[in-house]
Amino acid sequence: MERLTKEDLSYIFGEISARTNLRRENNLNRLNKDYMSNLVEALHDRKPVSGLTHCFYRYPARFSPHFVRSAIKAFTRHGDVVFDPFMGGGTTLIEAKVLGRRAIGTDINSLAVFVSRVKTTPLSDSDLSEISFWIECTQDWMNLRNPPSRAIEWMDLGYQRNINCRKTWPIRKSLELTLSKINNLKKERQRDFVRCVLLRTAQWALDCRKEIPSAKQFRRQFLEFFQEMVVGEREFRNALRKDDILSLGDRQRATCLHRSVVGIELDDIFASHSPPRLILTSPPYPGVHVLYHRWQVNGRKETPAPFWIANSLDGSGASFYTFGDRKQADLSGYYSQAFAAYKSLAKISDKKTLLVQLVAFSDPSWQLPHFLTVLEESGFREVHNKKIANAPDGRLWRLVPNRKFYADQRGDTAASNEVLLIHRLR
Ligand SMILES: C[S@@+](CC[C@H](N)C(=O)[O-])C[C@H]1O[C@@H](n2cnc3c(N)ncnc32)[C@H](O)[C@@H]1O
Repeated sequence: MERLTKEDLSYIFGEISARTNLRRENNLNRLNKDYMSNLVEALHDRKPVSGLTHCFYRYPARFSPHFVRSAIKAFTRHGDVVFDPFMGGGTTLIEAKVLGRRAIGTDINSLAVFVSRVKTTPLSDSDLSEISFWIECTQDWMNLRNPPSRAIEWMDLGYQRNINCRKTWPIRKSLELTLSKINNLKKERQRDFVRCVLLRTAQWALDCRKEIPSAKQFRRQFLEFFQEMVVGEREFRNALRKDDILSLGDRQRATCLHRSVVGIELDDIFASHSPPRLILTSPPYPGVHVLYHRWQVNGRKETPAPFWIANSLDGSGASFYTFGDRKQADLSGYYSQAFAAYKSLAKISDKKTLLVQLVAFSDPSWQLPHFLTVLEESGFREVHNKKIANAPDGRLWRLVPNRKFYADQRGDTAASNEVLLIHRLR
């Protein structure tokens, strides 16, 4: 493994040293120490996710915003491109935007793209007041005594699977009644925001719950989440303003692409942007089954309902989102998909790009070496900083408290340990 070089460090800390006129070597070291200790502290932070638009949806295996912010601050400057090829719920993109970086993300899950887009789309005051006016009517619309307004096309496609039993139909009907009025909102970004409030409320009501709430509780929670999300939305918008990002016109928006990272080098997006300074991501984990695209209702029954609420199509099985079937003993499918993905990442990188990842494994003893070989064969080499290592392998590991990917599993599992991996081009 290689250490971060003086050149890396002077790039990373150049902006600050220029601003504060701290050019002496010992000061660089001090800044290095400060930034690195912030990163380490953030990595071990166990506070629940909060702030900005982060809580708009609980995406599985999401990053800690605190860690993401520290990594972006440590490794990039204002205006740099930050890329998350497996963007999931968009944590990297939100933090990159509020820090004044240019944010790009890709994901093959249309739900991830929907959520990331809503979380990174600033709404104006008039958007918010039009939405508030619409929301006031929802309490009447959601009344279960209203005649049904069935979402026939979605039903026929199977998107309401497992949400029609005695306990869950009131939630399904409340959703249907509300969604049938969504076109009363004029703008797509307003409709998407409201869909996201419904998505969050329905996730709260249905996913991994022992008791399904009543329709009345659902309506109350919907209003509560709406109010909270307006606060988060304003916080996000004000944070952008503070950094004067709104003056950047089109560049103010994060770019959320619904596509695989494989082949990204052929996409126009990196023809029009400089290579990313930082690729900050967490890929699908080797051997770990995560339900990115379903909720678990009444025990382990899966529903694709989140796609219906988000108005986006799915149609893929779990292995599509997780680099292949975890039941394959040697994970050869996983590693060949990972190889294709990292090869594409190598093609859009240059020698200044840092690839920073958090990865968990069901069995790190053999899966980590294999994963590192894949990275090496794709064109990356590992770099490290001894000061931040906390394990004999010279890397930084962290325990993720209460990691939970399924309804019936909580607590410390093999995948509760994550490692920080830092690479750059060979
Ligand atoms: C561990 S999650 C990322 C979570 C994210 N860091 C967050 O904070 O929410 C991994 C993501 O990789 C996506 N994914 C899997 N294969 C992909 C591919 N070939 N290209 C792009 N995204 C992919 C999955 O859909 C999933 O959303």
